[in-house]
Amino acid sequence: MSKISCGIALCIPLIFTIGCTSNSSTTTGSSGTSSSPSTSENSAQGAIPIGIGVAQTSNVALLGQEEVAGAKLAEQYFNEKGGINGTPIKLIFQDTGGDEAGAINAFQALISKDKVVGIVGPTLSQQAFSADPIADRAKVPVIGPSNTAKGIPQIGEFVARVSAPVSIVAPNAVKAALKINPKIKKVAVFFAQNDAFSKSETEIFQQTVKDQKLDLVTVQKFQTTDTDFQTQATAAINLKPDLAIISGLAADGGNLVRQLRELGYKGTIIGGNGLNTSNVLPVCKALCDGVLIAQAYNPEYPSALNQSFRKAYQAQSKKEPPQFSAQTFAGVQVFVEALKVLDRQSKVSKKPLAELRVALNQQLLKGKYDTPLGEISFTPEGEVVQKDFYVAQIKMDADGVNGKFTFLK
Ligand code: ALA
Repeated sequence: MSKISCGIALCIPLIFTIGCTSNSSTTTGSSGTSSSPSTSENSAQGAIPIGIGVAQTSNVALLGQEEVAGAKLAEQYFNEKGGINGTPIKLIFQDTGGDEAGAINAFQALISKDKVVGIVGPTLSQQAFSADPIADRAKVPVIGPSNTAKGIPQIGEFVARVSAPVSIVAPNAVKAALKINPKIKKVAVFFAQNDAFSKSETEIFQQTVKDQKLDLVTVQKFQTTDTDFQTQATAAINLKPDLAIISGLAADGGNLVRQLRELGYKGTIIGGNGLNTSNVLPVCKALCDGVLIAQAYNPEYPSALNQSFRKAYQAQSKKEPPQFSAQTFAGVQVFVEALKVLDRQSKVSKKPLAELRVALNQQLLKGKYDTPLGEISFTPEGEVVQKDFYVAQIKMDADGVNGKFTFLK
């Protein structure tokens, strides 16, 4: 059931003044009865329903909960600005959990039961390769908020992403490590072999290592479900690497960082995009200190919209907004701005849903969007076009509990 903090009857008038926050993690949309109902008939309060299908449970929620936060801030921000030319949007959340089956179920519910106009999700590339084809076949536009593996936009005509791919982002971390320590020569690479993104990212890292004329001394494999990395860490440490590069997700990646340090590894560590969350800090604690992670978002990006987003995030969480929140905000923003353009041509709330979904997909690929990530657009295939990338380093406080991502100059 939808849980709306200010009550359904009051919510729409208030949404533009105080900003209702919806807490609709298992919201159901009302079902239309005709075979081709209009978009507003499908939505309980005349709002335009946008689906958010990300991981709210499982270890993948370490990334997904940041996406939920970013989506909710976007809903509040854009509704306060008048929604779709006066019609509010309503986010419908379906929890994908951490695996493919969960993502498929969530997408099916969003498409057929909740009758959303488009979906922002899923969290993992591994899930996208299974769930996105379902949306693509149903002609429902999908915007990947964090899927960075090679091949995501190529899944189909209805699949785009706001998350820059590993090929663009990952090499920056290696270059930053070499800038900090030009003596790095021997490199050990670790990757989660059961995860599509990790496999894709490690290919880029390994190629970058070769391009930089470094010596790739070992490639160690693990599973995202592993908790014990003694074998891989010991094998790598015996080869005396100066740099360890990890492509995995948050829980496994954080544990690998911790065990490398506990076993005495003193060199530089790069974490890939799956470790790009402060939710790794409770996993590796003081031993997270110094880990380098490439970024597709910088909280200091000086646009008015980003600074509003940053302020709203800080007011809630008392920390800087992370990349996954900013990317999910951007995903919702793309839908909102594309819907606004369509709405000026003819009221989107009156359009038959199937027609609107197709028009929305065509429109979103044409636009330019000034998002918290900077100005973005899309290639005709749905790949994000973005200009600026960064590298951050984890800096732990003396207490070994709190820490933050500091951006390298
Ligand atoms: N970037 C990670 C993925 O694509 C979260 O799965």
